[in-house]
Amino acid sequence: MSTAESTFSKGLEGVVAAQTEMSFINGTEGVLEYVGIAIGDLASKSSFEETVFLLWNKRLPTAAELEAFNAELREDYTMTDALKERIKACPVDAEPMHVIRTMISSMAMDDPSPNENSVEVARHKALNILATAPAIVAAFDRHRRGLDIVDPDPSLSFAANFLYMLNGEKPTDAMVRAFDICMITHADHGLNNSTFAARVVISTLSDMYSAITAAVGSLRGPLHGGANEGVMKMLNQISDVDSVESHVMNMIANKERIMGFGHRVYKAKDPRAAELMTLAKQLAEDTGNMDLYNKSHAIELVMEREYAAKGIYPNVDFYSATTYHCIGLKLDLFTPMFVLARIAGWAGHVIEQLGDNRLYRPTTDYVGQHAVPYVAIKDR
Ligand code: SDX
Repeated sequence: MSTAESTFSKGLEGVVAAQTEMSFINGTEGVLEYVGIAIGDLASKSSFEETVFLLWNKRLPTAAELEAFNAELREDYTMTDALKERIKACPVDAEPMHVIRTMISSMAMDDPSPNENSVEVARHKALNILATAPAIVAAFDRHRRGLDIVDPDPSLSFAANFLYMLNGEKPTDAMVRAFDICMITHADHGLNNSTFAARVVISTLSDMYSAITAAVGSLRGPLHGGANEGVMKMLNQISDVDSVESHVMNMIANKERIMGFGHRVYKAKDPRAAELMTLAKQLAEDTGNMDLYNKSHAIELVMEREYAAKGIYPNVDFYSATTYHCIGLKLDLFTPMFVLARIAGWAGHVIEQLGDNRLYRPTTDYVGQHAVPYVAIKDR
């Protein structure tokens, strides 16, 4: 198709660039389904491990299949010694998102066949990255605090094992459940920017490590996964609930973006925000952080009054900030949490792309000059 026939869509808005069987989004009605199952059902009834199996196999597992999947995942919890040494060599003031991106990329060097791309081999690489990423984040956080790395405990679930490796003690069931719900609600979400990045990279028949690395780089941006850190910074700037109205109205007057609100697809409340709002309130009550929750809810009411008519509602990042804070996570670990969950979606899309690949190569609408003479430098 020549550029004259194609129409330019800035940011590829509204362009269908892939087909998927993993997540369905109805932005008008605020619906999200993973393989046809409503996100609310999965958040309340499933586990992250079961959700990963669902996304990768396009169906829920039997009890035996889930047991086998858990065993396979837990075998990969442990980092190689080489990876541990690389983490210890990281500057203690490095940003965790740069560390996780770099370390995932470096995992290709520990893989005897990093470029193999058969779907079965790609799935194994995906499982290894998914299982190892929590250990990378936990190990770096302990390294920068001057603490020993805590090795994974294969008797623990994905959620429990991460919190154990991070804090060096077994987490409470409530914290494990909360973190598991966070992982479920962040696992996949159509062709968001980071997932698109992963598909673009693997469409050249590059490798899983390169594709996931590209996705992590994209997710870091404040317009994407980095928004949850921005939400927390905003909450910390507001002294109390009574100051919310003036603070938010001031931001609006200054045409500032309110982090955690708005979405390219949702023009109704993000169903994940609804799930995480309930979770955030429960956790805030349990951990003495109701001021955070109350400020968040007050912000939502102001934004509803000012922006609902424009289709701007809370997105997944808005209440995840309070949730992660109540779980005890440091601010700069919020976006890495998004990485831990979204590796499931990214890898699933990479495997879908490999299963029916065509190189991504959009075109441009050339709006520059033509027939320009070359002028020798002495004459310029
Ligand atoms: C995620 O794509 C996905 O699925 C992503 C995600 C996933 O699971 O992968 O859901 C995760 O990234 C959620 C989004 C997190 N980002 C933020 O919370 C950052 C703040 N939000 C925005 O910057 C914005 O809403 C985007 C980037 C999310 C979406 O932007 P669009 O679709 O490009 O919309 P736009 O920038 O063209 O805005 C349309 C209008 C503009 O006003 P006008 O210029 O038309 O007057 O809405 C306004 C914008 O100014 N607007 C906002 C706003 N978001 C949009 N105004 C104030 N605050 C906001 N948050």
